Amino acid sequence: MARTSALLLSLLASQACAHTFIWGVFVNGVDQGTFKGIRIPAYNGASGKGGYNNSPVKDLGSIDLRCNVMGDVQAHDTIKVAPGDNLTFDWHHDIRNDTDDVIASSHHGPSLVYISPDPPTQNSFVKIWHLGKYESNPFPQAGKWSATSDIAKNFGHMNVRIPQGLKAGHYLIRAEIIALHEGDVSFKANPRRGAQFYPDCVQIEVTGNGTVELPEGVSFPGAYSYEDPGVVHNVYCSTETKKPKTSTTPCVTDYIIPGPTVWSGAWPETTSVSVGPVKGVTTATPWSTWIGTDSVVTSATYADVKSQTIVGTQKYTAIWSETYVTPTPGSPRW
Ligand SMILES: *[C@@H]1O[C@H](CO)[C@@H](O)[C@H](O)[C@H]1NC(C)=O
Ligand SMILES: *[C@@H]1O[C@H](CO)[C@@H](O)[C@H](O)[C@H]1NC(C)=O
Ligand SMILES: *[C@@H]1O[C@H](CO)[C@@H](O)[C@H](O)[C@H]1NC(C)=O
Repeated sequence: MARTSALLLSLLASQACAHTFIWGVFVNGVDQGTFKGIRIPAYNGASGKGGYNNSPVKDLGSIDLRCNVMGDVQAHDTIKVAPGDNLTFDWHHDIRNDTDDVIASSHHGPSLVYISPDPPTQNSFVKIWHLGKYESNPFPQAGKWSATSDIAKNFGHMNVRIPQGLKAGHYLIRAEIIALHEGDVSFKANPRRGAQFYPDCVQIEVTGNGTVELPEGVSFPGAYSYEDPGVVHNVYCSTETKKPKTSTTPCVTDYIIPGPTVWSGAWPETTSVSVGPVKGVTTATPWSTWIGTDSVVTSATYADVKSQTIVGTQKYTAIWSETYVTPTPGSPRW
């Protein structure tokens, strides 16, 4: 083993905790297999010293905001879809089954889905779906949010539909959950807090004879700013005149989801599809085993990383190809 030491492996083996990411994709209710076509987020922090698959990305200027940490590294396979297909992304936290909590119950926030030609170019990510706060509850309750009341309550299922008539080709879907439980202040103002971004990209190939091209979209990084009211938002804000116990922040009338509006070419509504059985493993393997034994530490964006021991010595630099590269065959990463 080159750089990866036995110590590192033992640290990673004990990794049980991870934040939410996509474990599978159902196409019209049929599972494509655990981690198939998914650019699984790698280590990006030092929590527990071994790092997690997917601690949140909080730095809005980081390339990790595009497809998460090591999001430039292709999955070995690509999911074939047709315009009109219903996709269900299966988000999980610790295990890919219905007992999983999907995301911590405190992590209130919106969910968003973008599509871009693969590879992305300047302003190529087009929003095709989002859901934010859909029901207000009286203070001090946070209300009902897509992440915690919709997706988490529906076994991690996030639904989106391939746009009608979309031209055939290779695309990346960038699905995202944003957790706002520490979003009352920006990461720039206080790196220990700030909104937590969980982006995850899925490689798809759209088949058929569609002619619809995507319009101009947004770039990641670039689409979000620390001034966005949807990025800095206190989910425990109060409209009460009586001095509240834990919050004096006035509520904005409506929560404003970050990023652009949903493209008019997207389906106006998404339907939850009944899904069949999961194909493949239900547990995740530490990222170190699929990065390879000569792996390096990624750019650590997790706020606390500087105060803890970083495993390894090198910083990972994402290299995004400017032309489409056919993925090399291999086992899915698990
Ligand atoms: C996707 O879902 C919609 C709404 O339920 C349904 O009408 C449509 O037939 C589904 N598409 C496919 C390809 O199954
Ligand atoms: C889900 O995973 C948990 C934890 O490993 C296990 O106890 C439970 O039996 C699993 N449930 C199903 C339906 O597979
Ligand atoms: C596109 O493909 C569909 C299904 O194969 C076919 O019915 C339709 O005629 C085709 N349209 C064009 C413009 O080729």
